[in-house]
Amino acid sequence: MTAGKPAYYITTPIYYVNDDPHIGHAYTTLACDVLARFKRLDGFNVRFLTGTDEHGQKVEKSAAAAGVDPQAFTDKVSQNFRALSDLLNFSNDDFIRTTEARHKEACRSLWKKLVDAGDIYLGTYAGWYAVRDEAFYAESELEDGPDGKKIAPSGAECEWVEEESYFFRLEAWGERLLAFYEANPDFILPASRRNEVISFVKGGLKDLSISRTTFNWGIPVPDAPGHIMYVWLDALTNYITAVGYPDESSEDFTTFWPADVHMVGKDILRFHAVYWPAFLMAAGVAPPKRVYAHGWWTNEGQKISKSLGNVIVPSEIVATYGLDQVRYFLLREVPFGNDGDFSRKAMVGRMNYDLANQFGNLAHRVLSLIAKNCEGKVPQPQALQAQDEALFEAVAGLLDKVRADFDRQQFHNALTKVWEVVSAANRYIDQEAPWKLKKSDPERMATVLYVLADTIRQLAILTQPVMPDATASMLDQLSVAPDARDFTALDARLAAGTPLPMSEPVFAKFVEEDV
Ligand code: MSP
Repeated sequence: MTAGKPAYYITTPIYYVNDDPHIGHAYTTLACDVLARFKRLDGFNVRFLTGTDEHGQKVEKSAAAAGVDPQAFTDKVSQNFRALSDLLNFSNDDFIRTTEARHKEACRSLWKKLVDAGDIYLGTYAGWYAVRDEAFYAESELEDGPDGKKIAPSGAECEWVEEESYFFRLEAWGERLLAFYEANPDFILPASRRNEVISFVKGGLKDLSISRTTFNWGIPVPDAPGHIMYVWLDALTNYITAVGYPDESSEDFTTFWPADVHMVGKDILRFHAVYWPAFLMAAGVAPPKRVYAHGWWTNEGQKISKSLGNVIVPSEIVATYGLDQVRYFLLREVPFGNDGDFSRKAMVGRMNYDLANQFGNLAHRVLSLIAKNCEGKVPQPQALQAQDEALFEAVAGLLDKVRADFDRQQFHNALTKVWEVVSAANRYIDQEAPWKLKKSDPERMATVLYVLADTIRQLAILTQPVMPDATASMLDQLSVAPDARDFTALDARLAAGTPLPMSEPVFAKFVEEDV
């Protein structure tokens, strides 16, 4: 089935297993899922990867706190992230764990490539490290916290580290990185983030410590007893492990690498847009085509934190509002790339207005009228009038527009454009008032209902990536065959006379007493 299809490789960050899955994890993976589904429907051979980041001091500490050895700990908690895929209907093709043998081999190979290239040397690191971020910080970046503590810009506490360490010659890659950004203007999106990264690199890069000797939970550096690879070098490598590295001539690698999009949160952009392409170029591997940094959610205007007790738990919001409602809200409410606020009012507004009133109600009205007035079969249209053609044209124009938005990860824009047509269809039904035509002009009634039913079919096909369950139900209600739901089927038309099942509303309304 994949022969001849263009390849598309999309990745989520791999998640630290010390935390329970929260909205941040759900959001990044959701964006990837929606893109992966879109590309599949648009004829691509998609590889969609997610997984867990299981090494490093932070995970080692969490395992110790739980009183279990790190392997047993990660075996258990990485399951929580697999479960997230089931809960949120994520369609990832693979789930990688950094404790897998395939990954350790990839990391050792990459390391050796960097050694052979002359980009690694032995030295001593003396400086600040934040275990929470698994990141090194320069003194100048830190603020003084209580009790003489040093605090990173992320809010993480830092500790002083002084130990023998291998270094990657990052400083030497500054100019080449800048040239790479220049030659690939869409490598970092959105553009505001790109500018941040460029000024960071222009400010001068320092060689990067890439091994540690004061803990054990990680991948040993080849031929260097006592040294464990820096967890970010280990973690970033997952993206190539999963497509067969170090076998660069494997079918997977030649098909899927370089990745089309690494989706990340803004907090981890530097690792992906600076360190990662430098490692890859040094190892003679092509950098990914794009790193997209999305923003962060707040909860009712407040920063989300465990200490505030306002963590948004995916299973809870799905139970309260419904799965497709949550998926739609997260991608519609906030311009992708910006920070956004999760408020109950906004969530309920979107779910009740955009979904239940505008889209769901339209479908249910049309299907109920067909059930009642057209013997429950797709009606037979007569010659189309200008307003019928106009609605068909509006919906037919969507794919190109929506594709352009998806290709730049502008999900909110794509949905806005689809909903313009949903609104147009609502205006059309109100103007044409097919319920009034039953006696006066049944043929015209059949035509209007046909135009609406086929418009709904197309709208449902286009919104499958965002709301897979609800749209599946809509398409079932229109008797659209499972193999007639990809984007090549948009141009087809419903066949008049096809029997339709009973219609049921697909989007429930949220009523306050429900809580
Ligand atoms: N393990 C690293 C990534 C390694 S990738 C080679 C890591 N893991 S993480 O578990 O901390 O990842 C969290 C992800 O969730 C990041 O993309 C982060 O931006 C995102 N979010 C965490 N809190 C968030 C919000 N409040 N809102 C949106 N996304 C947030 O980093």
